[in-house]
Amino acid sequence: MKSPVIVTGGSRGLGLSITRALLEEGYAVATCSRTLGDALPGLMAAHPDSLFWQVADIGDATSTQAFVKAAVQRFGPPWGLVNNAGIAREGILATLPLVEVDSLIQTNLTGAIQMARGVLRHMLSRPGGGRIINISSIIGQRGYTGLAAYAATKAGLDGLTRALAREVGRRQITVNSVAPGYLDTEMSDTLSAGQREQIVRRTPMARLGTAGDIVPAVLFLLGDGARFITGQTITIDGGITC
Ligand SMILES: NC(=O)c1ccc[n+]([C@@H]2O[C@H](COP(=O)([O-])OP(=O)(O)OC[C@H]3O[C@@H](n4cnc5c(N)ncnc54)[C@H](OP(=O)(O)O)[C@@H]3O)[C@@H](O)[C@H]2O)c1
Repeated sequence: MKSPVIVTGGSRGLGLSITRALLEEGYAVATCSRTLGDALPGLMAAHPDSLFWQVADIGDATSTQAFVKAAVQRFGPPWGLVNNAGIAREGILATLPLVEVDSLIQTNLTGAIQMARGVLRHMLSRPGGGRIINISSIIGQRGYTGLAAYAATKAGLDGLTRALAREVGRRQITVNSVAPGYLDTEMSDTLSAGQREQIVRRTPMARLGTAGDIVPAVLFLLGDGARFITGQTITIDGGITC
C-alpha cells in the first residue's frame, strides 16, 4: 500500500473522483463529509483496508480535529492532504445573508486552514516530506457576478498556498493549488442554461470541465515527479482564463 492521503469532501463530485483514483493508484485514503452519500459504501466495501470515512464538518474545528486524529490512528502520519471540500452560495453580495457569508468562509477557507494546520503537525513528523493540495477555483482569480464571497475564499486559498509553501519548503513539503474552471458536478447544478451556454461559448475547448479533467493534476502533484513544484496555482479550465 502506498502512503496515506487525506481528502476532504470525498462523498461526491471531484472529491469522490480523487478518492477513487487514489485508491486505484494504491494510496490509502481517509476522507470525510457531512453525509455518507451514495457512492462511498460500495467503495469502502471494495477497499476495506485502504479507505476510511468519518462524518465531519470541516467548518467545525472540533469535528475537523476528531477526523484528523481518527485518520492518523487508522493509517499513520499522512503523506498528502487534498483540501477539496467546499460549498458555493450564489447571491448578490449586498443582499447575501451574513450567515451565508460566514458559512462560506468557515467551510472553504477556515476549514482548509484548520485541516492544513492539523495535518501538518503529523506530516512534519514523517521523514521525506509531504504534499498539500488546495482545490481553489478560477472564480478566485477572475471573479463571477453573484460569487463574491465564494471568490474571496478561493483567492484566500491561493494565498494560503503561497505562504505555506514558504513555511514548510525546507521540510520537503510542497503546497500547491489546483484551480478548476466550471465543472459538471452537483455544485454547478445552480447554473442556468443561459449561464452554461455562455461558459461554453467563452471556453476555447467549448465545454464545461469534468472531475476527470482535474484528477490527473492532483495525482501528479502527489507524486515524486512534482517534488520541486511548490507555491503554484495550476489552472485547469479549458482555456477560459487564457
Ligand atoms: N463544480 C465546479 O464548477 C467547481 C469549479 C471550481 C472549483 N470547485 C471546487 O472543487 C471542490 C469540489 O467541488 P464539487 O464540484 O465536487 O462539489 P460538490 O459536488 O458539491 O461536492 C462537495 C463535497 O464536499 C463535501 N462538503 C461540503 N461541505 C462540507 C463540510 N462543511 N464538511 C465536510 N465536507 C463538506 C460534500 O459532502 P457533504 O455535503 O455530505 O458534506 C461533498 O463531498 C470545491 O472546493 C469547489 O469549490 C468546483
